[in-house]
Amino acid sequence: MGLDDWAAGDRADLAAVAEEARRWADSASDSPLYRAFALAIADDPALLAVLGRIPGVPPMNLLLGAVKLHLTAADALAAWYPHLTQEPRRPGPEACEALRAYVLDRADALVAEASARRTQTNEVGRAAVLLPWVVAFARDEPVHAVDLGASAGLNLCLDRFAYRYPTAGPDGVRETRLGSSSVELVCEWRGEGPPVSAIPMLASRTGIDLSPVDATDPDAAAWLEALVWPEHTDRLARLRAAIEIRRGVDVTMVAGDAARTLAQVDARLAPGPMVIWHTIALYQAPARVNAAIDAAVEAIARHRPVLRVGMEPVSGLPHSQVRVGSSFDRGRTAATAHAHGRWVAPAYP
Ligand SMILES: C[S@@+](CC[C@H](N)C(=O)[O-])C[C@H]1O[C@@H](n2cnc3c(N)ncnc32)[C@H](O)[C@@H]1O
Repeated sequence: MGLDDWAAGDRADLAAVAEEARRWADSASDSPLYRAFALAIADDPALLAVLGRIPGVPPMNLLLGAVKLHLTAADALAAWYPHLTQEPRRPGPEACEALRAYVLDRADALVAEASARRTQTNEVGRAAVLLPWVVAFARDEPVHAVDLGASAGLNLCLDRFAYRYPTAGPDGVRETRLGSSSVELVCEWRGEGPPVSAIPMLASRTGIDLSPVDATDPDAAAWLEALVWPEHTDRLARLRAAIEIRRGVDVTMVAGDAARTLAQVDARLAPGPMVIWHTIALYQAPARVNAAIDAAVEAIARHRPVLRVGMEPVSGLPHSQVRVGSSFDRGRTAATAHAHGRWVAPAYP
């Protein structure tokens, strides 16, 4: 899953950090502001030196998240951020100059903030990508849901969200609608037939994370908001609504590496089918951790029905891959999806 694609191993090698920044710009095509920032950083040795001081992955998310967290309406750079101004300016060279001045003025503080944080973006739009596979597995029976790399566990409330799947066909656009909720997810279904006909029943909800996020803590919630890309005001609104829903739902959050804790979680749950999912999470884990997770899933599948569905970036591919199987790397590609769940394109055998 290409961890090296997201962070140059040698952080002092500015040419490698510049390559990392350019690759990140490609993945940020739906944020013109961040794409412009990333490309400007890639060509700026002083900014690359700052980026090179950030050890976590992806460093660009952490740096731009730290900027967004601290930015106030009084800063010149705020003119490009929709959450701080009514009429944001269009991205361009002046925005990049303002970013440069902002970052270089407070480089030490931003590096300290970014180094103390993780990329834990909790994106509920990904629930719309998971739902068709979870429903097909659950049928009429409640299933235990386990989210690996769950962040704040928002996607474990996927049965509390509403869904709209518009599908373009020869007779125009048809739409499958499910549920009613303050969080309504719109996900273009680029395939045949309605994607889902029901919302699954969950027997239990468990989120595993190296560092679970308590979204009721104002500092943690502010960081989750800072990780949302500036132009994505719809994502920000539904993040806030999802946090409200999450407050009323019983989710067990387990702190630890999924490679070590998954078997313990399984041992504590009552018999019954289990769906294990992970979205844009295990790309952050090294290969040996992913191999250990595969082995844990295989062991669980020996004593209960299991569906593992993963949605992760894959080296060399432009969009997230949705794969089904006991191993993500060796799993069957079931679909390609937008990283924030704006569309899903099923792969038919
Ligand atoms: C980018 S966030 C995605 C969160 C959530 N899955 C989503 O799609 O909204 C990735 C999360 O995976 C967690 N993570 C990464 N490696 C992990 C591991 N080996 N075990 C458990 N959690 C892990 C991180 O701490 C982080 O919260």
